[in-house]
Amino acid sequence: MSFRYIGSKARIVEAIIDHIGEPDGGVFVDAFSGTGAVAQAASRAGWRVHVNDHLLSSAIMSYARVLSSADIPFRGLSSYDNAVAALNEVKPIPGFIWREYSPASSDHGAVSRMYFTEENAKKIDGMRRQIRDWRERELVTTQEERVLIADLMRAANRVANTAGTYGCFLSKWQRQSLDTLFVERSSFPNSVPHATMGTQDVHQVSCKPEDTVYLDPPYTKRQYAAYYHILETIALGDEPEVEGVCGIRPWREKASDFCYKVRAAKAIERLVASLPARRIFLSYSTEGHVPITSLSDTLAGIGQLSVHSLQNIGRYRPNRAASEAASDVGELLFCIEKTKEAKRVAA
Ligand SMILES: C[S@@+](CC[C@H](N)C(=O)[O-])C[C@H]1O[C@@H](n2cnc3c(N)ncnc32)[C@H](O)[C@@H]1O
Repeated sequence: MSFRYIGSKARIVEAIIDHIGEPDGGVFVDAFSGTGAVAQAASRAGWRVHVNDHLLSSAIMSYARVLSSADIPFRGLSSYDNAVAALNEVKPIPGFIWREYSPASSDHGAVSRMYFTEENAKKIDGMRRQIRDWRERELVTTQEERVLIADLMRAANRVANTAGTYGCFLSKWQRQSLDTLFVERSSFPNSVPHATMGTQDVHQVSCKPEDTVYLDPPYTKRQYAAYYHILETIALGDEPEVEGVCGIRPWREKASDFCYKVRAAKAIERLVASLPARRIFLSYSTEGHVPITSLSDTLAGIGQLSVHSLQNIGRYRPNRAASEAASDVGELLFCIEKTKEAKRVAA
């Protein structure tokens, strides 16, 4: 993705994949997939991949990165290139995005929301409607529909008048937000191992003992459902009641336990303990809600633990001295091998 997603592992994905290693017959489950940066690297390394994120927008972004050109022939529209060209020709429509997220919002409320120019907002509405129409007429498959929605979200990101998230818009138009929205085609490998997608709460994600699960939970209070609300609306293609100056869609049912300092430690423990997979990797930051020493102690009680710093080569040792030294470490990767039966933790 060409935008800054909070907590994206794009910069350190190679180091993560180095630790995860070669495909071993099981599925690589990216349970908090976000932009899909890690899932994509695993897929390219030969893993069968399952991407999951409780936000549809993130699940779609991720899924579109683990498909091959063979998965998306676009027979109903002749080719992918034709589909993208047709999308760029679509007539702009004054729909929901225009009504709520461009200055046209001041026609029915007190706020002139400046997420998109009116013209770009109408283009998003027109393109989203076109994708839905193609799917309803079965001119595109579900996979092809998801690829086009992902392409549209990337196009919207390029012209969004924000500081990187959709928590709020900027009060002056940024140069890129005045550009005309244009969908660009993505590139796909000719073939990749089979991939699947889910949008479940992480505690509902199913896996088998032979699978490898990668966990990259939020580690700060920033709730993704609120920070990326417009992408979620584009993905869902719905018209929710939005609130406040920033026009945020209802997001509390997607509030994540991992974003609350008082709940995060228990949520991680419950999750890691309950997953049947024998090999679990967890990314966490030294700046996260849960202190690294207590996280290490908890995880060591669930399985055999090794901890790796992904910015300083070497093995991170989770004792107090190491923890203090870790204040400038940043990203850690915990590897839990469940050699003994998972500890049962009360829900
Ligand atoms: C740190 S980001 C993942 C970043 C990702 N690894 C990447 O490189 O782009 C955390 C993700 O977890 C998702 N999430 C938060 N709580 C969740 C939950 N309870 N179940 C499933 N997904 C959740 C968020 O929507 C967000 O996309």
